[in-house]
Amino acid sequence: MLKIGQVTLTYPFILAPMAGITDLPFRMICRRYGCELAFIEMISAKALVYENRKTEKMIATRAEDRPLGIQLLGTEQEFILRALDLIRKYEYEIIDFNAACPVTKVTSKGEGSGMMKEPRKLGHLLKAIVDHTDIPVTVKIRAGWDEKSVNAREVALYAQDAGIKGLFIHGRTREQGYSGKVDYQVIREVKEALDIPIIGSGDVFSPLQVKRMFDETGCDGVAIARGALGNPWIFRETAEFLKSGMVPLRPDIHEVADIMAAHLRSIVEYHGPVMAPVVFRKLFVWYTKGFRDVKPLKDRAFRAKTEDEMLDLIAEFRGNESHAAKAVTVSDDLREL
Ligand SMILES: Cc1cc2nc3c(=O)[nH]c(=O)nc-3n(C[C@H](O)[C@H](O)[C@H](O)COP(=O)(O)O)c2cc1C
Repeated sequence: MLKIGQVTLTYPFILAPMAGITDLPFRMICRRYGCELAFIEMISAKALVYENRKTEKMIATRAEDRPLGIQLLGTEQEFILRALDLIRKYEYEIIDFNAACPVTKVTSKGEGSGMMKEPRKLGHLLKAIVDHTDIPVTVKIRAGWDEKSVNAREVALYAQDAGIKGLFIHGRTREQGYSGKVDYQVIREVKEALDIPIIGSGDVFSPLQVKRMFDETGCDGVAIARGALGNPWIFRETAEFLKSGMVPLRPDIHEVADIMAAHLRSIVEYHGPVMAPVVFRKLFVWYTKGFRDVKPLKDRAFRAKTEDEMLDLIAEFRGNESHAAKAVTVSDDLREL
């Protein structure tokens, strides 16, 4: 069990925010498989204040998409507080603040992981956010800026003093981006130094790796990110694994195809029929990952222009028995550890 503010989770793993990915359809598919708490991708406070229509759409939710956190990005207090006022009506369960994004366009403005260089300023900003809202506030940090300045523990202590209710830590430095191995030790140090719930992030692509994050760091929760791409089953499988210790079977090709079709449908409803095939291309690739002989189908998915074309490709995928043996097996997964 994991408790952040008023949110209590039976299973302590969470869908992490992913820009361009964790939209409403993606979150709803993960929720089907037991994802309890999800996050909207990072939202620029300035973009929100300027009432960018695209941003409004990005923060849309619905009753079944709960509990839900929103993640704000920014560095100027004035805009962040105004953004908080604007999102009040959505009654999100958690407000997360992004001090982790490694993208140069973001960090060059001092935002995202740029904040790791200014722990005191981050602390002040978090205090202002906490004082401005009744909703529990969390922060997402990285291990540090680069390997020479791993300061997660110091940053985390400032954040805790500001009154936040939980802390997410991606155990990589900004310099590492998304490559290299996650540093469990730094997450453990943060966990040992703080009293609030710590949620570990990084390299959780399977139930065993989720368990490894818990075991190596002692963290209270785990945020699942790339491990959920084309793989909403990771939530169900991880819950089963943590409960029984048994590594569950992977979904068969029919379940994968069913979910692909359902996901495509909800993308059509959310993004409209013109954008939907474009949005679904990368999902086609992720869902079919590890199945044999799918390259020609993936190539065609990149040229598909309508929902029907995409549905035909999903039907072909389902119907071709040669795909059925998934190349990635449970034993591969065990070897990884
Ligand atoms: C495409 C992509 C977009 C991401 N967008 C965000 C974001 O908006 N906010 C955030 O805090 N982290 C973001 N992340 C980081 C993830 O939440 C996570 O911390 C990171 O991917 C490490 O976990 P993993 O190695 O298990 O994928 C993003 C990651 C990816 C791959």
